[in-house]
Amino acid sequence: MTPRIGSFEEYQATYNQSVQDPEGFWSSIADTFTWKKKWDKVLEWDFRQLDVKWFVGGKLNITENCLDRHLATRPDQAAIIWEPNDPNEDTITLTYRQLHAEVCKMANALKALGAKKGDRICFYMPMVPELAIAVLACARIGAIHSVVFAGFSASALADRINDATCSMVICSDGNFRGSKKIAVKDVVDEAVANTPSIKKVLVLRRTGQAVNWDDHRDVWMHDALDGMSTECEAEEMDSEDTLFILYTSGSTGKPKGVVHSTAGYMVYTTYSFKNVFQYEDGDVYWCTADIGWITGHSYIIYGPLSAGATTVMFEGVPTFPDAGRFWEIVDKLKVNQFYTAPTAIRALMAKGDEFVEKHDLSSIKVLGSVGEPINEEAWHWYHDMVGKGKSPIVDTWWQTETGGIMISPIANSTPLKPCFATKPMPGIQPVLVDSDGNEITENEVEGLLCVKFPWPSMIRTTYGNHERAINTYFKMFDNKYFTGDAAKRDSDGNYRIIGRVDDVINVSGHRMGTAEVEDAIDQHPEVVEAAVVGYPHDIKGQGIYAYITMADNVQKDEDTIVKEIRDVVSKHIGPIAKPDKIQVVKGLPKTRSGKIMRRILRKVAEGTAGNLGDTSTLLDPSVVDDIKAGAK
Ligand code: WT7
Repeated sequence: MTPRIGSFEEYQATYNQSVQDPEGFWSSIADTFTWKKKWDKVLEWDFRQLDVKWFVGGKLNITENCLDRHLATRPDQAAIIWEPNDPNEDTITLTYRQLHAEVCKMANALKALGAKKGDRICFYMPMVPELAIAVLACARIGAIHSVVFAGFSASALADRINDATCSMVICSDGNFRGSKKIAVKDVVDEAVANTPSIKKVLVLRRTGQAVNWDDHRDVWMHDALDGMSTECEAEEMDSEDTLFILYTSGSTGKPKGVVHSTAGYMVYTTYSFKNVFQYEDGDVYWCTADIGWITGHSYIIYGPLSAGATTVMFEGVPTFPDAGRFWEIVDKLKVNQFYTAPTAIRALMAKGDEFVEKHDLSSIKVLGSVGEPINEEAWHWYHDMVGKGKSPIVDTWWQTETGGIMISPIANSTPLKPCFATKPMPGIQPVLVDSDGNEITENEVEGLLCVKFPWPSMIRTTYGNHERAINTYFKMFDNKYFTGDAAKRDSDGNYRIIGRVDDVINVSGHRMGTAEVEDAIDQHPEVVEAAVVGYPHDIKGQGIYAYITMADNVQKDEDTIVKEIRDVVSKHIGPIAKPDKIQVVKGLPKTRSGKIMRRILRKVAEGTAGNLGDTSTLLDPSVVDDIKAGAK
C-alpha cells in the first residue's frame, strides 16, 4: 500500500529523505504498485533537452493498478459514485468489480471499432460514468486520450483534434447542465467537418434529444458495447509510454498539448492523493472539477482509483436546483474529503449561509482548494461555515504540466496558514529566482517560482513540438522548470502563490492565454486590433477586459459591437473566454517600436490608472487619456 504521512515531524523527515535520495524515495513508493516488469533504473534526466524518464524499462498498465489489483481486496467497494444533474434521477454506484467489467467491455468495443495502442482518441463528454469508463478503456488498450472540456466551441475542438490527429471522438447526444440541455453532438458534427483524421464518432445516448447521423462514421455506444466481453487483457505499456494529452493555454500561440506518461504519473497522483487528503479506507472523496481539466484526470480518476478510493463524480452545477446542491450531495453521500475551486466557494458564499446550514456536513474531514489563489475571506468562510472550524483546508498549488499537487499542506500534519499553499510535497524541490535567474535562498522573499529537480508526474513534451516545450518551460532559467507563477516565501518556508507573471489570466480557475482571446476577437471582420488583460473579479478571481479598435467606417452602436465580440469569442473558443468588459478605444497605447504597453491597460482595467508610471516612450500619449476616460 502506498505510504501515508501521519504527522508534521514525519512530513519533515520524509521530505528530507526525498531530497537527499530521490531515487531511493520514489522507488520505495513505486514498489507498492503492480508492474508487469520492474524498472531497470529509477531516473534519467536532462532539463536542457527536456529528456526525463522515470522507472526506466518498467512495464505496466495503469488500469491494472486502478482496477485489477483491487479485485482481490475490495471488489464490492464503491469505486465511483455518480450523482446526476437532476437530483430526482438515481445515483449510480459502480463497485470495483463492476467498473472493471465496464472498462473491459468498453475496451473491447474500442478495439472492435479499430482503435489500437498509440492511437489518439478525443473525448467531448458530459460528466457521466461512461466518460471515466472510456478514458480507462483507452488506457487499457494503450490508446492515448485527449479529453476536451465540453464547454469549448466546435472550432476549439477541431483545433485540438487536428493537432493530435485523433482517429475517434467519443461524445454524447446532449448534456444536462443545470436547467439547460446542451446539443453536444451538434458541436462535434460541426468540428469533425474539418478534421480529416476522424474515422469514428462514438455517441452515448444521454439526453435522448434528436441528433444528425452519419451511418459510416457515427456509432451508438450501446450498439458498440452490445455483446462485448467483460474481460480484456491489459496492454503492456512502457513506463514512459504516453498516457494522455491535455491541452492548455499559454502566453503565445495556440493551446499546447501537454503530454503525460504512464508510470511516473500513476505513482505521483496516487501518492499525492493519499497524503494530501489523508484518504483512509472507507472514506468517500469528492472532487467537483470537470474531467476536461487536469484536476479531474489526476484527482477524480487516476489518483483515487489507483489508491482504491471511492470517488464521486457529479454531472451538474453548484447552483442547480439551488445554491445548496454541493452540500445536499455531501450530506447524502456522507462525503469525507471535499475538493473544489475558490471561484465556486466565492459564488456560493455570495448566495448566503442558509444554503449551507440546511445540510448536515459533519462527515467532512478535509477540505481542498485548487486552481487559483484563495482569498482570505473565502478561506475563512470555507473553513468556518463549510468545515465548521474543524477540518483543515489543503490549498493545493499545481498545474496541468505538473500532473499532480506540488505545494500543499498534508491534511492534519502541516500547520495551516490562510492563503498559503504552505510546503512542497515530498520529492518536490521548488526554488524562487530573481529575474536574472539567481536562486533566492533566504526566506521572507518574493520571486519567480521554479522547480529544480524532476518529479515523476511532470510534463514530458508538448504534443508534436518538443522545441516548444523546451522553450516554454526550460529556456527561461537554466536547468530549471519555470512555472509562470510568482510566489512569496515566509520566514517558516511556507509558499504563497501570487499568480501568473506571463500573459495568462486565470478565469474561474481556468487558464486563458490573452493572445488566444485576442486572436478570437480579431476574427470579427470590423475589428482592427485587440488587447486583452485580466482584472480582479469578485467571483471569478480574474475577469477578462478587452480593448479594441474598430475600422473607421463602422457605424454600429456600442451595445451591438459588444454583443458581436462576445459571440465571436464564444464561437472561436467557448463561452468561458467571453470578455466581461469590452472597451472600444481610438488607439492602443504603443511604444515607438510598436509594442503594446499592457502595463497601462492592466492599470486602467484594475481601476488604478492614477499612477501609470512612465509613459514617455509612447508613440501617442493622448490615447491614454481617451482610454482612461472610457474605462468600464
Ligand atoms: C495555474 C495552473 C492544477 C489545477 C488546476 C489549474 C494557478 C493553481 C493554485 C493555488 C494559487 C493556483 C497558478 C498555476 N493555481 N492552483 N492553489 N493557488 N494559484 O491548472 O489550468 O494548469 O493552471 O493555476 O497560476 O500556474 P492550470
